[in-house]
Amino acid sequence: MKQIFSFLCFLFVLSLSPILLHSQDIIISEAKFIKGDNNEYKNPAFDDSHWTTASVEKNLRKQKLDITTQYGWYRIHVNIPKTMLDESELKGWIRIHLPHIDDCDETFLNGHLIGKMGIMPRTHEEYSHEINYRYPSTREYLVNANNGIVKWGEDNVIAVRVYNANDQGGMMNDLVRITPVRRIEGIALAFEQKQLDKYGHVNIVIENKYSCKQSGSVHIEVFDIESQTKTQSFDKSINITTSTTIPIIYDKNTPSRITVSYKDKTSQKTMTATTIPHYIQTPNAPETPRYNGATVYGVRPESPVIFKLAFSGNKPMTYSAKNLPEGLTLDTQRGVLHGSVAQKGEYSIILIAENDKGKSEASLTLKVGNTIALTPPLGWNSWNCWGLSVSQEKVMASAQALLDKGLADYGFTYVNIDDSWPAEKRDKEGRIVPNEKFPNMKALGDWLHQQGFKFGIYSSPGDITCGDYLGSIDHEEQDAQTFNEWGIDYLKYDWCGYFKVFRASNDRSHAAYLRPYIKMQQYLRQQPRDIFYSICQYGMDEVWKWGTYVDANSWRTTGDITDTWASLYDIGFNKQANLYPYATPGHWNDPDMLIVGKVGWSSQLRNTRLSTDEQYTHISLWALLAANMLIGCDVAQIDEFTFNLLCNNEVLAINQDPLGQQAKPIFKNEHIQIWSRQLADGSYAIGIFNISNEDININFNEYKDKLNLQKISTIRDVWRQKDLTNEQVFSVYHIPTHGVKLLRLF
Ligand code: GLA
Repeated sequence: MKQIFSFLCFLFVLSLSPILLHSQDIIISEAKFIKGDNNEYKNPAFDDSHWTTASVEKNLRKQKLDITTQYGWYRIHVNIPKTMLDESELKGWIRIHLPHIDDCDETFLNGHLIGKMGIMPRTHEEYSHEINYRYPSTREYLVNANNGIVKWGEDNVIAVRVYNANDQGGMMNDLVRITPVRRIEGIALAFEQKQLDKYGHVNIVIENKYSCKQSGSVHIEVFDIESQTKTQSFDKSINITTSTTIPIIYDKNTPSRITVSYKDKTSQKTMTATTIPHYIQTPNAPETPRYNGATVYGVRPESPVIFKLAFSGNKPMTYSAKNLPEGLTLDTQRGVLHGSVAQKGEYSIILIAENDKGKSEASLTLKVGNTIALTPPLGWNSWNCWGLSVSQEKVMASAQALLDKGLADYGFTYVNIDDSWPAEKRDKEGRIVPNEKFPNMKALGDWLHQQGFKFGIYSSPGDITCGDYLGSIDHEEQDAQTFNEWGIDYLKYDWCGYFKVFRASNDRSHAAYLRPYIKMQQYLRQQPRDIFYSICQYGMDEVWKWGTYVDANSWRTTGDITDTWASLYDIGFNKQANLYPYATPGHWNDPDMLIVGKVGWSSQLRNTRLSTDEQYTHISLWALLAANMLIGCDVAQIDEFTFNLLCNNEVLAINQDPLGQQAKPIFKNEHIQIWSRQLADGSYAIGIFNISNEDININFNEYKDKLNLQKISTIRDVWRQKDLTNEQVFSVYHIPTHGVKLLRLF
């Protein structure tokens, strides 16, 4: 057992963690460990000398002590000197800090329960991921030392019962620490974003994790990043029982950095937190009709056309069209083109929308030929929000919200069900059938089509999907036919269960990767409708080099995205940097679905963990990358900020540009990356990204060569939809940490 008193080993521990500077901290890196479960293990007198010695920093899988779907116990012997109590700022208490634990724990000190996190299942079936979702998380247990639990200067036993549902397991990524209780460590500072109205609103929440009252003072500052001026600054004395909230009102149209510092009254120690709350750059859409949709649309001869006219503006709106080719009709109330065109060719159509404020027209080139998806798909997919809990009701709620909130008026018209829709077994004829969550696929498809949506579904070339639902293996033809009967317009075909087939054969040739995808595409193409083919195999065998060959309309280039900067940075910047040669109209690199709004991959949704500026970066980058933009949140809960992030017509016009060129990085250093793509009208879209952890100031002049500024007549700020004045072009720009300036250079 390694137990380190930091005052003895000052030099050694200094390199481990700053907290070790405190003279009384006890740091422990190893424990005794055993698999299984026995109530006796908590008793201090239990003999654990035959147990394995395990690290508390490495998960159990790494140490080959795997406890998947079972219990295990750690026991830590530790001598706690009485002086620790004297050091405590909270008289009579000491603190036991445990590392991350996968998944739940019950912790005992000398046989007494001192804390637990999650709910221990009696059987694995009873395990609930939703309840134990708090992993990865460290544990902070306070021990009231007044009641005789701690044996000062003698051997104490901390016994930790853990349960692991899957993967990793046990303690990891930190050390066990026993420390005096410092007041300031009981304080947590957080920001709670509130709904925007005329202003922005944020609550600063100061939480006291201890059971006694804490007193201190806060200093709050609000700083306008664009004008570099302090707009608010004040101090406040506070007493906190459990938590205190301080509301802040800020200008919602500009990035404001809010900083709060809390100073403990007794110890005078301080802690600080900072945030940039939601701010809106997209100008309000005019009340008159404005066309925001794609200007080209591809369909195969005789295939059904389902095309929603994407006009924003006051409702009700009536729609009309000129030069419609034979075979197409327009629903003048809903603004949806239906029908089919027999003759190959390019048809120039004029789309017209009219409301109480006026009338406007837009041109659409309908290309009847062999290529569909001439611009990347825009829409919604159920995975990043509902995960395996998706249902027909939830799909309809998001589709209805695309209409009601107006996102469909910006072109978001694919409505895609991800994993977890099939029943456990096929029917007697071998047909795949939906489970009870989807009572009627055909009716759902009909309803979506009538509204102008396209209907997407998910399957796997293997026997099962990633979520353990039925896949299409050996039923490819039948499934393609069933999808056609339901009116499916988009298939995401996810490798997952096919790993089994792949691993069972020794064939690692290029052909082995293509095989399952060619097979399904052959049957999809036999259907009398266009089905967007979205292949998902995480980028294996450099799929971007052969995606077009298997006639995929898009291919996932990476593993799954999640709502963190690390994931966004790796997938969006690192992994796409060299892929620009492979995107062309009809065939797109897919860096995965959007992670803005309320996500959760389960029935429990939460706000995305991306910061305000990370979200601007995400949408700007996906627009530059000509990437599929499938909204991954519950559309019904989209707020004003998220709407404005998704529905900036000039940002979307970059994504939907008919030239279909994907941006490439043209400049990189440790602070910024500049990405550029050419657009159909000869202009360039440029993203200047601040990838550093600090707000930065840049001057366009410095990047003259990279941006080719000499030849440019106009520079437009795309988010603000404003041309820069000469003065602005040559002045300093402030880009918040992980934020972006998205420009269009004419
Ligand atoms: C894989 C895919 C995800 C999602 C899940 C569903 O992980 O990459 O996008 O479809 O499967 O189980």
